[in-house]
Amino acid sequence: MQRETAEPTVQQLPGPTAEKWVDLHHQAAATSTYVYDFVWDITEDAEGPFCTDADGNVLLDFTSHVAAAPLGYNNPKIMDDLREFDLVDPMKIAGQDFYVSTGGTPDEAELPGPTHLMNKLTEITAKYDMDTVFLSNSGAEAVENAMKICYDHCEQPKYGLTFEGAFHGRTLGALSLNRSKSVYRRDFPELSGIHDVPHSMEGVERLREKLDPDNGHIPPEQVAFMILEPVQGEGGYRVPDAEFMRAVNDLCSEHDIPIIADEIQSGVGRTGEMWASDHFDFEPDVITSAKALRVGATISRSDIFPDERARISSTWGAGDILASIQGSLTLAAIEEHDLLSHAEKQGTAFLDRLASLQEDHEEVIEDVRGLGLMTAVEFDTKDRREAVMEAALERGLLTLGCGKKALRLLPPLDVRDRELDIAVDLLDEAVEDAS
Ligand SMILES: Cc1ncc(COP(=O)(O)O)c(C=O)c1O
Repeated sequence: MQRETAEPTVQQLPGPTAEKWVDLHHQAAATSTYVYDFVWDITEDAEGPFCTDADGNVLLDFTSHVAAAPLGYNNPKIMDDLREFDLVDPMKIAGQDFYVSTGGTPDEAELPGPTHLMNKLTEITAKYDMDTVFLSNSGAEAVENAMKICYDHCEQPKYGLTFEGAFHGRTLGALSLNRSKSVYRRDFPELSGIHDVPHSMEGVERLREKLDPDNGHIPPEQVAFMILEPVQGEGGYRVPDAEFMRAVNDLCSEHDIPIIADEIQSGVGRTGEMWASDHFDFEPDVITSAKALRVGATISRSDIFPDERARISSTWGAGDILASIQGSLTLAAIEEHDLLSHAEKQGTAFLDRLASLQEDHEEVIEDVRGLGLMTAVEFDTKDRREAVMEAALERGLLTLGCGKKALRLLPPLDVRDRELDIAVDLLDEAVEDAS
């Protein structure tokens, strides 16, 4: 497969081999999260946003594995260096108990491991004075640890603040912060003291009243954190306006409330800046990252992190050697190939094209929006969104839903004009079909 010439080609989806994989998979797998019967064959050709499924269908993947494959498939910017790495066993070590060297002294090491990754993360968050990192295995763990360090840092921790539409993960602590769909939270036990407000200026005003030292009912000194996604992901790719972000920032600084920016979906270049927070007049105290980084990361200042040994820890925390190398190489590739400007430029071009698509289908497309390459198309109904996703998939374009009736599009950060054109053409046909 050549990225320059690859085209989506679908014979049948799901094809007979995919159906066998799906059947076998569901003999043991929990069923709750599989969205469509697409079976990526890791042994077949895949390059950039193009991949091959179990029946030889070629797809244009505009999901980037929910932002977790930011450079697409088999990108030489990652693979060329990774080929230097001979697999070892164990590949994961007890990362917060042992240290790992990737060869020679840290200066001469040919590959960047967990130690290098943590140092790099402090470099790219230096503008927020962040100098300390705790690595973990997933986004939810990054959020759990962000909350833990904030609770620990607060003298009388009783409350946490979140926004309507938020999604922060599925573990018992993190799910308490979710306000997108009821399925994530319904009937599960939750952390106490979590308050939510609308994701709007009205919400900030309401928060101001709640925190008012004279008339409010939440003493600000008992608020351990305020958490938000700088661009809401699962809740619908909602890009906030600058005024809202400034107001949230100002209110939290007024009351000395630490801000956790959940950058798990929006970070690592997705929006055309390293962190979506960088677009705004907004200064987080803690950043959570995962997905594109391949490992979970809670990043903050040393004064917020607890000193006490074992207060936060995890067997595989900083010990996933391969994932840390992939994360480090991803950050290096973003820098070396100026992928932030590229994502910004291509994101603007993509949004323009999606805006024309909206004009052509104004009876069914209600909105197109996004920041950088974190883009979404909002339809008139949920059924329409589902029908468009299905029609797109039949044509070889892989997309994802978000919010109630939006479809998200996440091309790789180095997406090319030709790939954007193909995606818009296929989407156009899919919308036509679903109208
Ligand atoms: C903003 C945000 N926070 C947290 C998470 C949870 O990450 P993980 O699924 O790796 O636990 C996600 C996952 O979609 C996310 O989008």
